[in-house]
Amino acid sequence: MARLAVNVDHVATIRQARRTIEPDPLLAAGIAELAGAEGIICHLREDRRHINDRDLRLLRETVKTKLNMEMAAVGEMVGIALEIKPDLVTLVPEKRMELTTEGGLDVAARTGEIDKVCERLRSAGIPVSLFVDPSEAQIRAARQCGGDIVEIHTGRYAEARGEKEASSEFERISRAVQVALEAGLRISAGHGLNYVNIKRFKAIPAIEEYSIGHSIVARAVIVGFAKAVRTMAELVEGF
Ligand code: PXP
Repeated sequence: MARLAVNVDHVATIRQARRTIEPDPLLAAGIAELAGAEGIICHLREDRRHINDRDLRLLRETVKTKLNMEMAAVGEMVGIALEIKPDLVTLVPEKRMELTTEGGLDVAARTGEIDKVCERLRSAGIPVSLFVDPSEAQIRAARQCGGDIVEIHTGRYAEARGEKEASSEFERISRAVQVALEAGLRISAGHGLNYVNIKRFKAIPAIEEYSIGHSIVARAVIVGFAKAVRTMAELVEGF
């Protein structure tokens, strides 16, 4: 049975739009766990555009399932991870101007550097997941660097236009899963998955965990909207 891990970055994105205190990703994480999430994910970006150091610290104290810290493979983040000790670190590429993580980590081109980061984290007892494109070369490089898990980037599948392209991207993911299995890696997947495009993954039972954020936050805003308006209307009507 696969597991769902919920990324709470976009709850923090809404908070940061007003630089205020709500909505709090901590509360969202607690609710996600109560609702069945088996892991909480947050990405501490170098520019702190959504999750900040306080969120990470308090999530470490309050998450009861498994805290997965996404981060760039840079010295500052390694230092923070060694101090916070998340249950898992996922190394992702990071560009300042991107809207969200674009493409997987180019492990094949940065083997030496990624290898050192994996080694520092693993020797502190923190397992490492590498977020890679569904490519054989990247998966083999992830193995070579001593990664415990590969998270396969599903963005191209999610953004595919039309059935033909979606099928061919899904086929690439299936082949990548096979390579990862043969390499003895554990497998998760994520990026751009939603309530429709996730259904196809029933065909790949080897994927142990799905990392999903945006579609859940987007749905929460819509399905919770009427209730939130009703509560405010009742307050105002009582004047
Ligand atoms: N996995 C990784 C490595 C990511 O960077 C993200 C986006 O923050 C996700 C999964 C979740 O993607 P989405 O928000 O599109 O569900």
